[in-house]
Amino acid sequence: MSRYSRIAGTGSHLPPRRLSNADLAAELAIQGVETSDEWIVERTGIRARHFAAEGVGSSDLAVQAARHALEAASWQAQELDLIIVATSTPDMVFPSTATMVQHKLGIAGCPAFDVQAVCTGFIYALSVADAMIRAGSAKKALVIGAEVFSRILDFKDRTTCVLFGDGAGAVALEASDQPGLLATDIHADGKHRDILCVPGHVSGGSVLGDPVLKMDGQAVFKLAVGVLEETARTSLAKAGLQESAIDWLIPHQANIRIMQSTARKLKVPMEKVVVTVDQHGNTSAASIPLALDLAVRDGRIQRGQTLMLEGVGGGFTWGSVLVKY
Ligand code: UT7
Repeated sequence: MSRYSRIAGTGSHLPPRRLSNADLAAELAIQGVETSDEWIVERTGIRARHFAAEGVGSSDLAVQAARHALEAASWQAQELDLIIVATSTPDMVFPSTATMVQHKLGIAGCPAFDVQAVCTGFIYALSVADAMIRAGSAKKALVIGAEVFSRILDFKDRTTCVLFGDGAGAVALEASDQPGLLATDIHADGKHRDILCVPGHVSGGSVLGDPVLKMDGQAVFKLAVGVLEETARTSLAKAGLQESAIDWLIPHQANIRIMQSTARKLKVPMEKVVVTVDQHGNTSAASIPLALDLAVRDGRIQRGQTLMLEGVGGGFTWGSVLVKY
């Protein structure tokens, strides 16, 4: 009997503090940083984002999303035999955010670890969980993307601080004799590491280097549109499917113009693209599971449909997962 993984449930969580572009622009103006709702909407499609309150970390957002996913799957936390958290904004340097989520769920024993692939993190984490389930080393996995990017933004740099938000999304992934995840495809190319990075690090009891996000937006944009088409085609080919099989395209939510370009190249109409970037901004590793959960809960995504999840981000990393929901 073939062994596959399938999505048993989804969940998500956004911190309550929501800032519209106008709210953020007003806060930035106090510091002499000039931006506008018009610029942000026109260049990115973003209208609002959520920021976590002081003291709230990725594990806090992750555990809320995890509880919703467990409930949707009708699982008890005690049944879990794997927890993977994708994050680039962990609570601490170590231990992993996944171990904190495990403890907050009131369980112990199962493996729990983080995956760090920036905005492709959830795609990487889902691919790892799928491989572990197919290999027989897990039956019930929780795969979470959780971020507090507001903590690593430079609010004096208008080219980046208007783009990102905080949040978490989770998927309960179970072993099944029916697919499930149809194909996974992940990549990296470290020569592009400088175009999107947080170059600071901890050393000798201090932070060395700049601990805030730096991005060459145009370089990222150009690379993103190319690799997103390529990885989607690779996943389709691995599954022996055509573009027309895609019922829902759920891309990483960084910029509506990147999503429109990818959809056009894959001949997927925008009505079949799940868009949350307008309300969430870019939540990095959380953006794909947040969008997935939203469209499952509002009834757009139905059982049996084919979903193309794909992401791109710092590293440079990129990848996709094709899912029969
Ligand atoms: O999640 C990881 C993946 N990340 C991404 O996919 C991000 C990819 N990149 C992008 O989405 C876009 O490149 C940005 C949204 C970051 C920038 O859009 P753009 O159309 O490439 O704008 P630009 O960088 O060429 O800037 C155009 C102008 C500049 O002014 P000048 O030099 O033409 O006078 C900027 O200074 O817009 C100015 N600008 C702003 N103006 C008002 C940049 N940021 C702002 C701002 N408000 N927030």
